[in-house]
Amino acid sequence: MAWLRANWFLVLAHTGALLPLVVLVWDVARGNLSVNPIQDITFRTGKFALLMLMLSLACTPVNTVTGFRPALRMRKWFGLYAFLYAALHFLVFSVLDFGLDLGLIQREIVEKRYILAGLAALLILLPLAITSTRGWQRRLGRTWKRLHRFAYLAGALVILHYVWLVKADVREPLLWGGALAVLLILRIPRARTFFVNLRRRLSASKATTPALQ
Ligand code: HEM
Repeated sequence: MAWLRANWFLVLAHTGALLPLVVLVWDVARGNLSVNPIQDITFRTGKFALLMLMLSLACTPVNTVTGFRPALRMRKWFGLYAFLYAALHFLVFSVLDFGLDLGLIQREIVEKRYILAGLAALLILLPLAITSTRGWQRRLGRTWKRLHRFAYLAGALVILHYVWLVKADVREPLLWGGALAVLLILRIPRARTFFVNLRRRLSASKATTPALQ
């Protein structure tokens, strides 16, 4: 029970991250997909890959603004879930949609800019997933931090992928882009210092305010 109290956020976050995969497998097994099942799976895996990537990028700003430290323990995991969903997304595209026809896949990459942007994002996520372990973090030292900042570039490429693939209504991808911009702004040292000081001031004033009788 004490373990659960200390780790409730990790349990909740891992469950939330894996649930879409379980539901997807269930829906595939039960034939609960739409009339275009391949597109359905592509959309779902793509959307969850984007969500996980954004959650991974949100962990540090959440800790900065709210002081909620358990978020930091999920940063790496959300990144790995992003890669898992993105890899599934790519597998569905290349195996189910294109039957692993390398010629056709290559033509699609060259002809469609949104595919190229998605591929570039996936190729950035791959080394980030491989080097996410503590061993790689130790081995790479300062380079590790610099390397993992590329997650923001991956995020921007995914937004571009999304904007380019929707033909008419770009509101949703632009909303995701706005969220990414906010997360980036919160990483700027000045913004970070502002929020850390604000949080300290708020908790200090809370500590000195006498409790209401
Ligand atoms: C080589 C890599 C990739 C390929 C070939 C690819 C391919 C596709 C395709 C074919 C679609 C559906 C387009 C349509 O039917 O209109 C799609 C949608 C999408 N992809 Fe990708 N993608 C790749 C990488 C990624 C990555 C790395 C992410 C996120 C981390 C991602 C996120 C999305 C999202 C959010 C959608 C839209 C889902 C929706 O409309 O609900 N994709 N992708």
